[in-house]
Amino acid sequence: MERKVLLVANWKMNPTTLKEAEHLFDTIKKGIDKKKEVEVVVCPPYIWLFPLINSAKTLLQKHVRPGRKFAFGSQDCFWERKGAYTSQVSSFMIKNLDCQYVIAGHSERRRYFQETDEMVNKKVRVILKAKLKPIICIGEEARDTFDSQGHPMNEMSLVIGDQLEKALRGISSSQIGDLVVAYEPIWAIGTGNSCSPDDAMRAALFVRKILTKLYDRSTADKATVLYGGSVNSRNAASYVKNAGIEGLLVGGASLNASEFIRIADRVTE
Ligand code: PGA
Repeated sequence: MERKVLLVANWKMNPTTLKEAEHLFDTIKKGIDKKKEVEVVVCPPYIWLFPLINSAKTLLQKHVRPGRKFAFGSQDCFWERKGAYTSQVSSFMIKNLDCQYVIAGHSERRRYFQETDEMVNKKVRVILKAKLKPIICIGEEARDTFDSQGHPMNEMSLVIGDQLEKALRGISSSQIGDLVVAYEPIWAIGTGNSCSPDDAMRAALFVRKILTKLYDRSTADKATVLYGGSVNSRNAASYVKNAGIEGLLVGGASLNASEFIRIADRVTE
């Protein structure tokens, strides 16, 4: 069976009011409702998750269930189950809200909150323990780097191979079916400089190669691989129509309901 295209809307620290968040969700929901081939995962800030899930339950009883068209995700979580960790939210709390996904290791977390690969690994473990699906973000900082002789230094594969292997320490092959890996080159995030579909495909193939090395080929095929970084309605289709990319992680463009709906249109045309 063909997989649905997975569209993850990462709202980051937006919008500022609950009213705007409800309006954004409602508009997206109405615009995507009739499309069959996408699964949309809305990842609002923590504070809007609970009210949005509640209103969504009444709005779309049928859709906010595993395997259905809409799901909710959290942008992060802490690695402990509960305890004296001021301001933190555990994966078990997120699970309790009826969320299904948690983003782990987004480059903004790594950059502004000094999140390391070891921390990302602890989060991935606890996300899976809570029976949620981790969306692990990996990506290189700079576009192409060359050595003094002008040879490419393979920045992408070096960085993402290392990040992925560390993020998956202690994760068994039976858990890989729940794994989502988002290739998000940092230079492409929020810059308007999206990665070429060919390069994204190369990265996606590389992700499968690493997973095959860590597990085996059939296990590697069970993971879902996404691309993220300046995705918009003009470039979205080129990623998912090319082999290897099964969905998109959308930041800025997910805050504009009509643009996000257009992305869903383009990838399912
Ligand atoms: P962007 O963000 O679509 O605004 O580039 C993507 C992301 O950070 O996940």
